[in-house]
Amino acid sequence: MSAQLIDGKQIAQSIKNNLKGRISALKEKGITPGLAAVLVGDNPASQTYVNSKVKACEKLGLFSKVIKRPANIDQYELIQIINELNNNDKIHGILVQSPLPSDIDELTITLNIKPEKDVDGFHPYNVGIMLLGRGGLLPCTPHGIMKLLEYSNIDPSGKEVVIVGRSNIVGKPIAAMLLQKAKNANATITVVHSRSQNIPEITKRADILIAAIGQPEFIKGGMVKDGVVIIDVGINRIEAPETNKGYRLVGDVEFDSCFEKASYITPVPGGVGPMTIAMLMENTVKAAELISSSL
Ligand code: GUN
Repeated sequence: MSAQLIDGKQIAQSIKNNLKGRISALKEKGITPGLAAVLVGDNPASQTYVNSKVKACEKLGLFSKVIKRPANIDQYELIQIINELNNNDKIHGILVQSPLPSDIDELTITLNIKPEKDVDGFHPYNVGIMLLGRGGLLPCTPHGIMKLLEYSNIDPSGKEVVIVGRSNIVGKPIAAMLLQKAKNANATITVVHSRSQNIPEITKRADILIAAIGQPEFIKGGMVKDGVVIIDVGINRIEAPETNKGYRLVGDVEFDSCFEKASYITPVPGGVGPMTIAMLMENTVKAAELISSSL
């Protein structure tokens, strides 16, 4: 068997196109959805992500603002920036690009973002609402994975889903979302992580495998069964001196060997990455709708 590619770029574009009517309706009421991205330090990958987010805003006619600060910023100063954004009527969504320098506590920063402007869906209020299955502002990458499955007509109901990785921003929330008693969910979930034993034995059981561990090409073809659906969340830069940039991007999945086994697979780049941005755009529009309807 060889796999069908899940085109994240195309699905992300449909999702963004579907937002255009909602954005026009807001603009007719004099509201332009606005996103603020806070970028601390000079991590090149973070800069690339923030640039892509701003570009997506521009393309859709959303307002955006980037606040850049050096890595030695004081935590209190960062909280003050967030407070100003919380009170800025032009801003409906706030994101603080992670990772932050190690002397800043990410949870403290997240707790200072107003939950209704938390377009990353990282605030414990939104995490709780998500866990209860009541919607709210959902975290972008896992929400994007749900949409990739839905648009590809892959119904996880009753399927064995194996999630590799237990991060707060992907592994844990995608487990919670796929577990919901809801349409396009109802899966049986196993989460494997760095302390799990016999990982290949578990991954071979997967009808749907979600790789989100941040280790280049960790999942090999021999670790999955024929016909598996593979969602590769990893975006790893590996050195490639022969290229212009000096690096190339690979996922957490060894693409060629897994492509031979899978029924569907997401490419890297062009799979999950564009979906994260599309869902961020949707959250920004949703936040603007909710904030404006409660005025
Ligand atoms: N770093 C990696 N992914 C994300 C994300 O979705 N949002 C933010 N704010 N930082 C990230």
